[in-house]
Amino acid sequence: MIKACIFDLDGVVVYTDQYHYQAWKKLANHMGYDLTPFENLMLKGLSRRDSLDTLLEMKGIRACENEKLMLSELKNKWYRRLLKDIDMSAVAKGAEDLIHDLRSAGMKTALASSSKNAGIVVKKLRLEGLFDVIVDGNMVSASKPDPEIFVKCAGMLKVDPNKCIVFEDAQSGIDAAKSAGMHTVAICEETSLKGADISVKTISNVSSNEIIKFNSNNQN
Ligand code: BG6
Ligand code: MG
Repeated sequence: MIKACIFDLDGVVVYTDQYHYQAWKKLANHMGYDLTPFENLMLKGLSRRDSLDTLLEMKGIRACENEKLMLSELKNKWYRRLLKDIDMSAVAKGAEDLIHDLRSAGMKTALASSSKNAGIVVKKLRLEGLFDVIVDGNMVSASKPDPEIFVKCAGMLKVDPNKCIVFEDAQSGIDAAKSAGMHTVAICEETSLKGADISVKTISNVSSNEIIKFNSNNQN
């Protein structure tokens, strides 16, 4: 029986995935390249450094350690600039209601974000109260698709991984959750994510009843 729901932040609870994309695209443009939405799928869910390495490799760009540091700082500066203007309209439609309903049904909830800026977003949008536990990019050493972040959440919640369900919009996140031995809900608008137990277009398409039903169908 599922006891905990773990949510990714960017692209699941808030629409900040678009801002990450804008900032990475601006960085690619800065280096003389483009970054299409399709190419951006490879970056989603990864840490800042892993995203940069993926971008550089994708475009065949070689950079030394200092240049990489400068490039990731530049991307972060642009991303932070976009964050300045966010308000409650950045919260994904239906996310708060779903999380409230799941908590009322007795589920524990956690936020698991690769972003080192997750704390800023959560504070600005006053989302702290939605989660029993928050784990962000500052608290893990390996980023998704490594399962570390989800294993850490389960440990802090004191719930067995096989009793957790993870909501993710990135393939790296689905892979990480599966490696952690968890169930998965893929939130994917255009492209499908491989290996997820449930797939929906947006989080507003998930009902707490569906998750509860999933519970009773998947007794462990
Ligand atoms: C993830 C996003 O949540 O956080 C990635 O999906 C982003 O796109 C990553 O690169 C790291 O974010 P930050 O804010 O630490 O640069
Ligand atoms: Mg995401």
